[in-house]
Order: sequence, then C-alpha cells, then structure tokens
Amino acid sequence: MKHLLKLLDWSMDEIMEVLNLADQLKYENKHGIEHHHLKGKTLGMIFSKSSTRTRVSFEVGMHQLGGHALFLSSRDLQIGRGEPVQDTARVLSRYLDGIMIRTFEQKEVEDLAKYGSIAIINGLTDFCHPCQVLADLMTIREYKGGFDGLKMCFIGDGNNMMNSLVVGGLKVGMKVSVACPEGYRPPKEITDFAAAYGDMFEMTDSPEVAIKDADVVLTDVWTSMGQEEERAEREKAFAGYCISKELMENAKGDAIVLHCLPAHRGEEIMEDVFEANAGPIFDEAENRLHAQKAVMVHCMKE
Ligand code: CP
Ligand code: NVA
Repeated sequence: MKHLLKLLDWSMDEIMEVLNLADQLKYENKHGIEHHHLKGKTLGMIFSKSSTRTRVSFEVGMHQLGGHALFLSSRDLQIGRGEPVQDTARVLSRYLDGIMIRTFEQKEVEDLAKYGSIAIINGLTDFCHPCQVLADLMTIREYKGGFDGLKMCFIGDGNNMMNSLVVGGLKVGMKVSVACPEGYRPPKEITDFAAAYGDMFEMTDSPEVAIKDADVVLTDVWTSMGQEEERAEREKAFAGYCISKELMENAKGDAIVLHCLPAHRGEEIMEDVFEANAGPIFDEAENRLHAQKAVMVHCMKE
C-alpha cells in the first residue's frame, strides 16, 4: 500500500514507473484488453470542492480496473459537521481499500494518511494537484517523445498547479521556468526544492522571459476554487499574464500548450491559442483517466 499525497514525496523512479504503467494501461484500454488489477477493491472519493474530470476519471477508472468507486461529498459526510479527520480516517479504513480526496488544506490529506491504514490519493488541495501533473507529464512525453532537453514554462498563479508542475517537471529532468506576479509566487517549500536544481529552474515576473524557447507552455485559472472573493484583485494582478498568439511567438515553433481545465478564455489563455492546442489539451484531459488508473494500481494493489 502506498500514498500519493504530493509529488515531493515521490522519487523520479516512482514517477517514471507510474508513467510507464499509465502508457501500458492506455494501450490496453485502446485495444480492448481487460485489466482488472483492482478486482473487489473499493475507493472512496471525498470531495469538498467541485470537479468534472477528477470525479469522472477516478470513477470510470476504478470500474475499468474491476473495482468500485463511491462518491462522497464532504457536505453529506459527518466530516462536514466537524467529525475529526482522525476518526473519519480510522472508520473509512475499515470499509475501503483507498481514498481519493479533494479538499482545501494539504494537512487534511496528510492526516488521513497518518491516522488511516489505507492508500490515500490527493485529488487536489490548495497546495498541489499531483494527479493532474502526472497526466500532464504523460501528455508531454507522448507529444515530445521524452523529457531530456525540454523546457517547460508555466505562466500565472503560484498555485496548486504551478507547485506540482515545478516539482514534477524538475524531477523528470526538464528545465522549468515560471512567470508570476510578485505576491503570487509559489510557497517557500517549492522554491527551496527548486533551488537545489540550480539553473534548471527559473522564476521571473516576465511572461516573455519565461516562455523564451519553451517546448511546453502551461497555465491555469487566476482564481482557484476557494479564492472567489479575490477575483477582482487577481484580475488586476494577472493582467499581462495571458497566453496569446503574440506571447507564443517567443516559444519554440513546435511548442504545445496544455491546460488542466476548466479554462477561462480571454483571461489566462486566448480563445485562438486554446483552440489551436485543443489536440494536446483534450489528450491531457483523457490522460487523467490513464494516469490515475496507474496511480490507483500503484497505490492500492498489494
Ligand atoms: N483539472 C481538474 O482537476 O479538473 P476538475 O476540477 O474538473 O476535476
Ligand atoms: N487551480 C485550480 C485548478 C482546478 C483544477 C483550482 O484549484 O481551482
């Protein structure tokens, strides 16, 4: 039994092992080859925030692996009325084989792992989004054939997506460059991690500098779930951080753009850039399914 609490906890070998398994599961899926690796297992999916991709891909993925997934809204669980996470973890460990949780605080995910005795998978917190970034890495490798010598650039908020991309991108050997306004930079835990990679990591407030010669360009919403009250302030801070055709001229000619979705056209990305990259962006969304199946097999199979 293993956890996926954050990519910081996983070695490069573990990440590569799961990416390789994801490729294999995708191949089998496309060729109608059954893979019931989690037959008889049950995954609980706790959601304290909205979701389209994470919810559907985990539920479908568990079905394809021969197991069962249970949607649990935190609004309907006693945890939403204040039952401590320590008790919830110990109770759910008696019924389930794994929990996927999407919530606000990273500590809640870490506490589930600390007090429970089953696999815990992070389906997004304010701190990170490891499942999304495994799907992103899978997509990058599909389009670019590997990671060596690639430059990945993220333009926007120093949020859960940027945090996981910095960690995942550096761990697999890419150069990572991020552009974010002052006041919206990634937390110290991430910049300290990245500092150890020397000139493989770059942080700037200039989107033009960050995107220079990039092979892969990523962005995310300016206002994440739970930050709705800051929307107006954020729109002001991020003006100039939109991925436009003009900005893309600084990237490599064959650069691809990825977006975890949902996307806000006209804010972090222009409609024409989004549609020109619909191929990779929706492959990325599809890869959530394959990457998460690999995560579940890796974490939940004895
Ligand atoms: N990218 C992502 O996690 O999408 P959902 O919020 O729809 O799950
Ligand atoms: N940063 C976004 C990602 C959504 C998948 C959020 O947390 O709302």
